[in-house]
Amino acid sequence: MNDYRFIFHYLSAFLGFIVAIVLFLYIQTSLAGLTITLFEDFSTKGACSCDSCIMDKMEDDKWFFVRYNRNIQLMLNKKNSVLRQDVLKWWKGLQYVSSRSIQKQDALSNYKAVVEKLFSLFPDKEHYSDAGPDRCRTCAVVGNSGSLKGSYSGPLIDFHDFVIRINKAPTKGYEKDVGSKTTHRFIYPESAVDIDSSTHLVFCPFKILDINWLISAFTTKHIKYTYMKVRPTIKANKNKVMILHPAFIKYVYDSWLQKHGRYPSTGFLTLIFALHICDKVSVFGFGPTSDGYWHHYFDRSLTNFRRGSHGGDFENKTVHNLHLKNKIIMYKGW
Ligand code: C5P
Repeated sequence: MNDYRFIFHYLSAFLGFIVAIVLFLYIQTSLAGLTITLFEDFSTKGACSCDSCIMDKMEDDKWFFVRYNRNIQLMLNKKNSVLRQDVLKWWKGLQYVSSRSIQKQDALSNYKAVVEKLFSLFPDKEHYSDAGPDRCRTCAVVGNSGSLKGSYSGPLIDFHDFVIRINKAPTKGYEKDVGSKTTHRFIYPESAVDIDSSTHLVFCPFKILDINWLISAFTTKHIKYTYMKVRPTIKANKNKVMILHPAFIKYVYDSWLQKHGRYPSTGFLTLIFALHICDKVSVFGFGPTSDGYWHHYFDRSLTNFRRGSHGGDFENKTVHNLHLKNKIIMYKGW
């Protein structure tokens, strides 16, 4: 009997010992797993999954940090269409309605009705709120500079997830230097061109008449004149139309241009927009001639940006600074 009791005690102690070891190993493994998870979440995972991200160590660069507002409204939709008083006042200051244009009354008086009409025609969505540690979205912003000529940048430009072009810039016949892919094209009425059905038309409303033109271009086609002759209509996919929020245009002017010029150029707006929807931004075709003109790779036009509505010098300096601070990669062409 004593022998049985001894064996029983011995077995219980042994089983207890085994259970203790198993429990110990289990807890160790779980803790290790937890440590790895924590380490992954907070140490190895950056702001995005690219090798470097725009939002990496944001706070370390004061110049960038004070300018960049990650909560700014990018696109207009029905929900965010009511404009802040300061935005409204500034936007109103930009309105220029020519005596020859169809709209002679206070262009902002019917803003609410215009917004209603706008989103009965075009998608009423929130766009690009998908940033996170698992995303690596690369963007090429392609300006219209003559420096692109002979640059052989085409294949590199097309390699990006998003290729964003501006105004009338063509690709046909220039593929070797500028590529052939266009995911987004920024335009305003006076710079409008036909747009491929797979491309997003990103519309820059510098004035409310511009929004009226957009509606007209896809419906009645009756607006043919703003401050100059404009195309009454264009080919574009209306399900891919996006409209920049006036608050975004003011933000770019206030924060990034420190109120230089009267309002930002389309190219500069595009570049700052890319900083907000991409994780990595490459910039092509930005830069004037040595004597200070915005020239094109596709025509002979020369614009003296120092005399126009845009703070061209300040824009160029800011773009250069973004490059120095590794927030964009500038490709200068040859
Ligand atoms: O001439 P356009 O306004 O169509 O050019 C689009 C944009 O490309 C400009 O707003 C400007 O930001 C950029 N650009 C440039 N250097 C040039 C020509 C254009 O930086 N020589």
